[in-house]
Amino acid sequence: MPAINEILDQKLFSKENLVTLLKAEGVDGLLLLQKAGELKQQTVGNKVYFRGLIELSNVCEKDCLYCGIRRSNKKVQRYNLTDEEVLEAARFAYRERYGSIVIQSGEVTNETFVARIERLTTEIKQLSDNKLGITLSLGEQTDEVYRRWFRAGAHRYLLRIESSNPELYRKLHPDDGLHTYEQRLEALTLLKKIGYQTGTGVMIGTPFQTLEDLASDLLFFKDFDIDMVGMGPFIEHDDTPFNTPQTDALPLSARFNLSLKMVAILRLMMPDINIAATTALQAIDPLGREKAVKAGANIIMPNITPASYRNDYRLYNNKPCTDEEPEQCSGCLDARLALADSEIGYGEWGDSKHFRKKDKG
Ligand code: 5AD
Ligand code: FES
Repeated sequence: MPAINEILDQKLFSKENLVTLLKAEGVDGLLLLQKAGELKQQTVGNKVYFRGLIELSNVCEKDCLYCGIRRSNKKVQRYNLTDEEVLEAARFAYRERYGSIVIQSGEVTNETFVARIERLTTEIKQLSDNKLGITLSLGEQTDEVYRRWFRAGAHRYLLRIESSNPELYRKLHPDDGLHTYEQRLEALTLLKKIGYQTGTGVMIGTPFQTLEDLASDLLFFKDFDIDMVGMGPFIEHDDTPFNTPQTDALPLSARFNLSLKMVAILRLMMPDINIAATTALQAIDPLGREKAVKAGANIIMPNITPASYRNDYRLYNNKPCTDEEPEQCSGCLDARLALADSEIGYGEWGDSKHFRKKDKG
């Protein structure tokens, strides 16, 4: 087996190389994180971009086995922000000079919802003089719906593949015809074709997942030529079928370390994409997001949902910042990122350089 140094010096990684990197511990592990951090400085620079996250609604038609807001979880108090609350959150992001916002919600496919998103997107573009970038994260929709939202002004879309292994995808989702790997892949393909900057991602440390699966996920991101990636540790939620760790489950700390390595390796494989330091990292380690930024991430999504709803958008146990108002969040992030030697790209869209290059090419 080649030493870590030899692998890190290569331009392309085989699946076997990737598994070796994912297993790197101690000095080897640190070397990987350090190398990725350095490469980030050279390619996308030391700027971190904020995306204000608005959790529009926790109503969901789907039933993913891992997710706290799944349809079958009757304990969730379902909510929908009012239009005015969404617009106010967008105004806040604009005032604070966040380059863009993300509107996320459980998956809903009816016309009322589709038209509402279309309207809100148009209004947010207007209230920000076209300056606020709008990313949507609203699950699987039809080609026509994606096109309507794109025309209204959304320019990025996040849809995690969750796992690039169809067999594992099947184990993470109910077998009810609504949750198929093929449908998910088709949706991602549509988004890319329409012209969205397309983001995807996976959970790390889910039941049944192997290091080979994670290596394949990294190769999938590269093959699919993705523009943005968000991935974070899987964390059990009490009111889901995956509520207790399996006997061979990785401890949370190991899922956390593995997530940092995934970020670092992906930065080495795709130097100019946008990679998010996800909130789930912070659920395990209070400085989780900053550590991910050091290891290669360049995007942070501060939660700007009004505080009274945050408790109900609980995808997993111990989700952080559920009782803070947006103002408090941005202040604490500023200070901590300064410690991570990063600069915040205020007032900039912070588009994926990778997407821009493709666009011109
Ligand atoms: N742990 C970690 N991440 C989760 N997500 C959903 N449930 C969990 C969980 N229990 C992630 C999924 C989804 C994103 C919005 O949140 O990857 O795509
Ligand atoms: Fe809502 Fe998975 S449970 S999309």
